[in-house]
Amino acid sequence: MPESCRIYVTRPIPEAARNLLREACPAVAANDHDRALTRDELLRNLDGFDGVITFLTDCIDAEVIERAAGLRVIANCAVGFDNIDIAAAARRGVIVTNTPEVLTDATADLAWALLMAVARRIVEADRFVRAGKFQGWSPGLMLGSDLAGKALAVIGAGRVGSAFARRSKGFGMCLLYVDDRPNEALEREVGAQRLDLDTAISQADFISLHLPLTPDTRHLINAQRLAAMKPTAYLINTSRGAVVDEAALVRALRERRIAGAALDVYENEPRLAAGLAELDNVVLAPHIGSATTETRARMIPVRRLRHAGGGERVRRHAGPGASRHRQPRGAGEPAIGAAATAGVRGGGAEAHRPLPHRQFDRRVGAECRISLADCQARRRVV
Ligand code: DGY
Repeated sequence: MPESCRIYVTRPIPEAARNLLREACPAVAANDHDRALTRDELLRNLDGFDGVITFLTDCIDAEVIERAAGLRVIANCAVGFDNIDIAAAARRGVIVTNTPEVLTDATADLAWALLMAVARRIVEADRFVRAGKFQGWSPGLMLGSDLAGKALAVIGAGRVGSAFARRSKGFGMCLLYVDDRPNEALEREVGAQRLDLDTAISQADFISLHLPLTPDTRHLINAQRLAAMKPTAYLINTSRGAVVDEAALVRALRERRIAGAALDVYENEPRLAAGLAELDNVVLAPHIGSATTETRARMIPVRRLRHAGGGERVRRHAGPGASRHRQPRGAGEPAIGAAATAGVRGGGAEAHRPLPHRQFDRRVGAECRISLADCQARRRVV
């Protein structure tokens, strides 16, 4: 961006990140309150800025984009960009960027943390011990589920889905995946088998969702699909809450029609569907998929703004309705059966594009070898 550019940041960011931004662009203003801007503030505050750094709590719809007349770049600090009306931005010639890759590992790790937590009842067990209920070892205490030999279905085999799938190697699981396109690397590296959505759902013991929210994926996991899961199966969601019909999930969990769920994301964040928090067969995290110190530091798009959005430009899943706030509820809900994998494409904007940072690929390669040089190279990626 030119020297005279003005950047607005919608949430507080660390001082070090702000200084880096200032090097690229001297006029940096930010919302210094640790809360999302109200709609009025969003409409008012972006006026006069060339670039805005947004977060997934900002609804950047057509009206916001229209009002911010001088805006040239929207740099969204998230891999998901369902909070931005991409079509409206394109109409106004505004570049939209997101943050794929930098959060792949952190999000894949969290999905595993949730899977393990629900399978082995870690949160329940922790509460039990703290409540002073632990009276000594007992053969039937807190029985959970094995992982070894179980079928794990990864729905959406993009960047995060693939990283999650590769991590299954040490657990001796049978890997299934659902995606619009074959992922040959995954098939080769972990023997993953590609299935249609409904077959994968009915065969899996664990189902992990790694999809962007689009009209096609909204409520992809609906009441019928929950009913098709094994009664012993678990659902893990670290993608977007609205990929699951949350009210239907509460019913399925309450009636023990599935064994459990572990969620990092919710349909109407930060609100939870009625009854969800009362259930003991669900683990609930507050949307912390990318919440590690290192990952969050890498998510501030300094370089991207410096090059006027020349980094990861959002290209796919763009179009009318790309903003979750503009989608008619339930519209585009996929039909069950034939169209079962339609719209199932994993992991953000450009899931199947070759990754520019080769060290990531090598690091999670077939033998999971990681060299010191790879580690160091990765730390340098900002
Ligand atoms: C994202 O980047 O889309 C994640 O949800 C952030 O945690």
